[in-house]
Amino acid sequence: MAFPTETVYGLGADATDRDAITRVFAAKGRPSNNPLIVHVSGIEEARTLVTEWPRAADDLAAAFWPGPLTLVLPKNSVIPGIATAGGPTIALRCPDHPVALSLIRSFGGPIVGPSANRSGRISPTTADHVRDSLGGGVHVLDGGPCTRGIESTVVGIEGATARMLRLGSLSAAEIAAHTDLQIAGPTEPASAGDSHATEAPLRSPGLLQRHYAPMTPTRLFDAWGRDAVVDRLAAGERLVVISHAIDRDHPAVIRLPSDAEGYARGLYAALHLADRADADAILIESPAGDDPIWSAIRDRLRRASAAEPDTDPEG
Ligand code: TXA
Ligand code: MG
Repeated sequence: MAFPTETVYGLGADATDRDAITRVFAAKGRPSNNPLIVHVSGIEEARTLVTEWPRAADDLAAAFWPGPLTLVLPKNSVIPGIATAGGPTIALRCPDHPVALSLIRSFGGPIVGPSANRSGRISPTTADHVRDSLGGGVHVLDGGPCTRGIESTVVGIEGATARMLRLGSLSAAEIAAHTDLQIAGPTEPASAGDSHATEAPLRSPGLLQRHYAPMTPTRLFDAWGRDAVVDRLAAGERLVVISHAIDRDHPAVIRLPSDAEGYARGLYAALHLADRADADAILIESPAGDDPIWSAIRDRLRRASAAEPDTDPEG
């Protein structure tokens, strides 16, 4: 069953049921070495799934849960290894959405919840996106459009270090303000090929280069390239253009808000719409801007436009 959260829709199943988890991997076409996030009702439930709950986890969860923060900690044996791709850690999040919270509470236990899209594709921010991606067979709790629009920030707590494993709705600065841990980036730069190199669990597949990608070839341009793109549209090229700055009505231009929060909220819907237009290419104006959400947005845009790898994409 798919359910809404404040970030994107998740594909939910009982996190203690191996068969249900297997069906989630199958429905997404997700490689079994990519671990799932487990959604919990709060700190108390999270503590029951890990071997240690350090003070830093308490600080961060108290500051941001319910909310778009996923904490990675050493797991105990309550959740079967298949959910975490056999790895020693578990990713935990308490979502800030009334439907998600009441689902977890009324179910009475933790729920796995990867984004409810086919592996490697754009995350869903509406119930229709879920049905488009996974087919009509999946039951969707429709909570309307997600308010955040991009996925949670994934942070690994490793001793005195908080490692940013995936950029997301919360910035490193916001996290730093609520912990005395040292903030660090990922240890290994991931490439799309990594995932196939071994059967080992992926360190954090949110780091894979090509991810969150439309089927249509997707390229970025910046403010300097804007006039050239407008000229190409005028010349009748079969393009879809996504921009927060093109000041012109044209059926092939999808306008996004120019504030970071509004842009994040609308981005995946714009990508889904653009991908359905059957154009030769999607061109996206890469936004400049200092607000930390812009960094997460640019991260997603780079991944959406990364060249198709030789191997299958992951996600
Ligand atoms: O906002 C979100 O996080 C959404 C909503 C539905 O909660 N969920 C989501 O799940 O984006 P998913 O599975 O699409 O992305 C989870 C990310 C992946 O990049 C995964 O590899 C990483 O978290 N992850 C999961 N478990 C991990 C672990 N034990 N260690 C490191 N990374 C992990
Ligand atoms: Mg995903």
